[in-house]
Amino acid sequence: MRHLLPDDTLWRNLRLATLDPNRQTPYGMLDQHALIIRDGRIQAIVPESSLPASHAKTYDLQGRLVTPGLIDCHTHLVFGGNRASEWEQRLNGVSYQQISAQGGGINATVMATRAATEETLFACAQARVARLIREGVTLLEVKSGYGLNLDTEEKILRVAARLARENPVDISPTLLAAHAVPPEYRDNPDGYITLVCETILPQLWEKGLYEAVDLFCESVGFTLVQSERVLRAAQAMGIPVKGHVEQLSLLGGTQLVSRYQGRSADHIEYLDEAGVAAMRRSGTVGVLLPGAFYFLKETQRPPVEWLRRYQVPMAVATDFNPGTSPFISLHLAMNMACVQFGLTSEEVWAGVTRHAAQALGRQATHGQLKEGYVADFNVWDADYPVEILYEPGRNPLYQRVFRGQIT
Ligand code: NIG
Ligand code: FE
Repeated sequence: MRHLLPDDTLWRNLRLATLDPNRQTPYGMLDQHALIIRDGRIQAIVPESSLPASHAKTYDLQGRLVTPGLIDCHTHLVFGGNRASEWEQRLNGVSYQQISAQGGGINATVMATRAATEETLFACAQARVARLIREGVTLLEVKSGYGLNLDTEEKILRVAARLARENPVDISPTLLAAHAVPPEYRDNPDGYITLVCETILPQLWEKGLYEAVDLFCESVGFTLVQSERVLRAAQAMGIPVKGHVEQLSLLGGTQLVSRYQGRSADHIEYLDEAGVAAMRRSGTVGVLLPGAFYFLKETQRPPVEWLRRYQVPMAVATDFNPGTSPFISLHLAMNMACVQFGLTSEEVWAGVTRHAAQALGRQATHGQLKEGYVADFNVWDADYPVEILYEPGRNPLYQRVFRGQIT
């Protein structure tokens, strides 16, 4: 028998998709159960039949589906300007790599972001976060990476911190200073890496502005040697790492990031079996980003079969950014992961809940409906989890609960 305290809340008549892998049902499903919430955490999950009598505040959800809050574990949502005209060039046959070589691409957004005031950056990012919140996202990652100097990387991360303060959502900030070579270092990329390792990374870490270090290991980003310098600098300070790797070609970035116990290897379209085996050994999550695959008209799919065979956890995220994935909808990314990459609905749900939590180092508190976990959950006007990804654009969210509060 569980006792409820006066300030507890009781949510009853639920169809729970717990996403708890220890439950033997698809999606960890539990019918006819209730949640007892205390101090923003899940105090208990109990069958309707054994509910204690109580005067606690009660919500009767009449059999609706409840899932953990959605987690978008890879976004670049703080930036200035847009890249619509660059996209028009791409429609006329110019490639992403060619545009990048001409100083466009990431560096076009860097110029716009440096020029933007902090207030403008915040206003644009706030509108994007609001759209994710409306879809039921309760935790999201925000990367820097469109500043590429100390001041602007800091400006972006301060905006991320303000977004977290002013919204009912958790934000996990990531330093992506090694995103591209900025124009002032065009002839000296190693000099830029020195700036990243010796100045940007330690100074912004001291200020508590980020939780992990990311990098872009690619022909249009950084070499393996340059990437490893960043990883070594992060490791020396005990900072968790991750990487944009194997997006446009197979360079070996995944194996490198795995050697540094990377939390995640993201994109990984061109990944080979040896890289998948390395991820398995290091416990690295594979973050699949179907929005970028679609928008770049890629044809090389991530090695989903190998990831399954080696039991590497797969996450799914929006990669929201102005160049390769201008889609601020996790529901759409979930649908695309099924249609384009061949994931099952259950894999996608794990990918936006417990595996996404793992990619952010929050697997002990987020991404499952489980006793002791945060009370972040969504109530859907739906019977089955697949309905949420079936019809992107129709949002069946009925109620969103963040830390036990309806928001
Ligand atoms: O995740 N791959 C590198 N970074 C982004 C693209 C950034 C941009 O083009 O602005 C990505 O796809
Ligand atoms: Fe990205």
